[in-house]
Amino acid sequence: MGFFGTAALLLLGTAAHSGLAQSSATTDPSAASSLSVAELWKLQTTLWDNFLYPANAKQMQSINSTLFAPNIQGRVDITRTFDGAELNTEYIFGLFSDPSQLSLIGVPVSYKIVKFAATDNIAAASTIFTFNATMFGKLLPLNIDTFITFDKDTKQVTQYDATFKWMDFLFAELYGEIGKLIQANSTDQVTAYLTDMMAKTLCSTHSSHCTGTMQQYADSASCYNFLTTQIRFGQTFEMGRNTLFCRMMHAEMLQYRPEVHCPHIGPSGGGMCVDDQTYSEKVLQDYFTNAPFTPRI
Ligand SMILES: *[C@@H]1O[C@H](CO)[C@@H](O)[C@H](O)[C@H]1NC(C)=O
Ligand SMILES: *[C@@H]1O[C@H](CO)[C@@H](O)[C@H](O)[C@H]1NC(C)=O
Ligand SMILES: *[C@@H]1O[C@H](CO)[C@@H](O)[C@H](O)[C@H]1NC(C)=O
Repeated sequence: MGFFGTAALLLLGTAAHSGLAQSSATTDPSAASSLSVAELWKLQTTLWDNFLYPANAKQMQSINSTLFAPNIQGRVDITRTFDGAELNTEYIFGLFSDPSQLSLIGVPVSYKIVKFAATDNIAAASTIFTFNATMFGKLLPLNIDTFITFDKDTKQVTQYDATFKWMDFLFAELYGEIGKLIQANSTDQVTAYLTDMMAKTLCSTHSSHCTGTMQQYADSASCYNFLTTQIRFGQTFEMGRNTLFCRMMHAEMLQYRPEVHCPHIGPSGGGMCVDDQTYSEKVLQDYFTNAPFTPRI
């Protein structure tokens, strides 16, 4: 190799080196575009602090929680997907903010994050909440696992994917408790009892909030008949399917935006309580588009 060759190589080497240095300074995702683990932990705990009752009632009053990006995308395994700040404010904060509402699990009163990992703008957490199940007069632990992405500038939640762990086990125990309370002799009797109670609650909520063009049922009798004989009660994973349980979950929302939520408790299910997915479609649904849920490596 002659002098020019060596010089060229050295130059190339220098150029390549400075090119690399430059690229790591300008495009290294771990620098400019990421949140630190400490920041992500703070965002996670701030979200959960506001999820607790009664802070969640205050969030609900804001209509569009500023903790959420306007185009937030959310998914809960036992229900379905939720788009936008307003809907997510209702379902995340509104749904668990009223201890007097008919609810099996009640309101969240404390939490402990038991697992946490974070990278880029993504936080993964396993959190054990304590719910005050006022219907049973007792405190229940509930483990919720989440993957959340945050906007690095606004610090708002842009996506969340939540899993209610061991929910089947919890509901089996709660049905057992109800069975003891009503001295039932079979699980069918428990289901019949809950069906009657939920249908009555829903139909009376319907009468108070779904009037005029928002009306879903001709009268209380046809409401009760539909809810008790034309649809399934619903299993734990069916809170976003064509079930009574799904419609019950939406009852709490009627007071906020009846024009949006009345169809959810009606015969059509309003796109929220519908059998629109098979198991495989649910698992393979390519829902999240705001940000990757995997690190940029
Ligand atoms: C909440 O956000 C929606 C969608 O951007 C908007 O239409 C609505 O007016 C907002 N409501 C309030 C009270 O800010
Ligand atoms: C649970 O709710 C009951 C009834 O509202 C209340 O008396 C009790 O203090 C609550 N417990 C906790 C830990 O929040
Ligand atoms: C269970 O069986 C007992 C004895 O036959 C009866 O008195 C009770 O009413 C039954 N429970 C229900 C919820 O029907």
